[in-house]
Amino acid sequence: MTDGPVRQALTLPELAAMKPAGTKIVMVTAYDHPSARLASEAGVDLLLVGDSAGNNVLGYDSTVPVGMDEAAMLTAAVARAKPRPLIIGDMPFGSFQASDTEAVGNAVRLVKAGADAVKLEGAGPMVSRLRAIVDAGIPVMGHLGLTPQTATKLGGMKAQGRTATAARQLLHDAKQLEAAGAFALVLEAVPAQIASRVTRVLTIPTIGIGAGPACDGQVLVWHDLLGINEGVAPRFVKRYADVAGEIRRGLQAFAADVRSGAYPADEHVYKISAEELRAFETDLEPTAIPDADVWRDW
Ligand code: KIV
Repeated sequence: MTDGPVRQALTLPELAAMKPAGTKIVMVTAYDHPSARLASEAGVDLLLVGDSAGNNVLGYDSTVPVGMDEAAMLTAAVARAKPRPLIIGDMPFGSFQASDTEAVGNAVRLVKAGADAVKLEGAGPMVSRLRAIVDAGIPVMGHLGLTPQTATKLGGMKAQGRTATAARQLLHDAKQLEAAGAFALVLEAVPAQIASRVTRVLTIPTIGIGAGPACDGQVLVWHDLLGINEGVAPRFVKRYADVAGEIRRGLQAFAADVRSGAYPADEHVYKISAEELRAFETDLEPTAIPDADVWRDW
């Protein structure tokens, strides 16, 4: 038995019931313990420990370099918050493509790290990976449209499904993932009309990111929606806070206080009784405390 409060997580049946009830699903990425706690307190439904940690916290240029050790460590940090949202561990590039066996092994690793479910990108041969993981007893979320792990093959980080042929393929892939047992599907950067059609055709919920308002839920990356990332962003990003500005203001104020001597003030300092201090100083060489007089007033 572990100590601490028992986790009351959202269940998959509760999530599934949100689509027919018309209750929009709220998903955000989270890569650490305090973020998971705050998202939980804010009433978020799903937490994705996204491989977008690659660009957003690990300093990589893309999601491609993220490895299983990193994904497992971030997932464990999120899980230790015991959040109410369902925790979805994102399967990094290279952790599931080679074989069904490897996909199951790495999905199991994320679950052992604390994920309730995993997400993987793509269709085609990845349908078999998804089915294998589901058959191993692990819920899987699919991800279609712009799949950043294979963005080079898609012609870059750009919207997908913008021709009739591509849109038909997307719909076909979505149905295949649902049939293979996916419990939900992320649609990234696809035209709103196509996402709407996919959403109506599927019985599992769709979670859009740049896929318009008809999706059953929406996801944004933590650092985008809270304004930790600044500068140019994809058109679907809406900034709900200026956390970067707030952090900068706090750090500048701290630096100014340290340099002026305003910090630490009296209330930030631990005290010792005059008697103990006298006893302490009695045994010391006078030179041992260069500025001993400074302490007498305290
Ligand atoms: O890793 C991630 O953040 C994602 C979202 C964009 C859905 O996959």
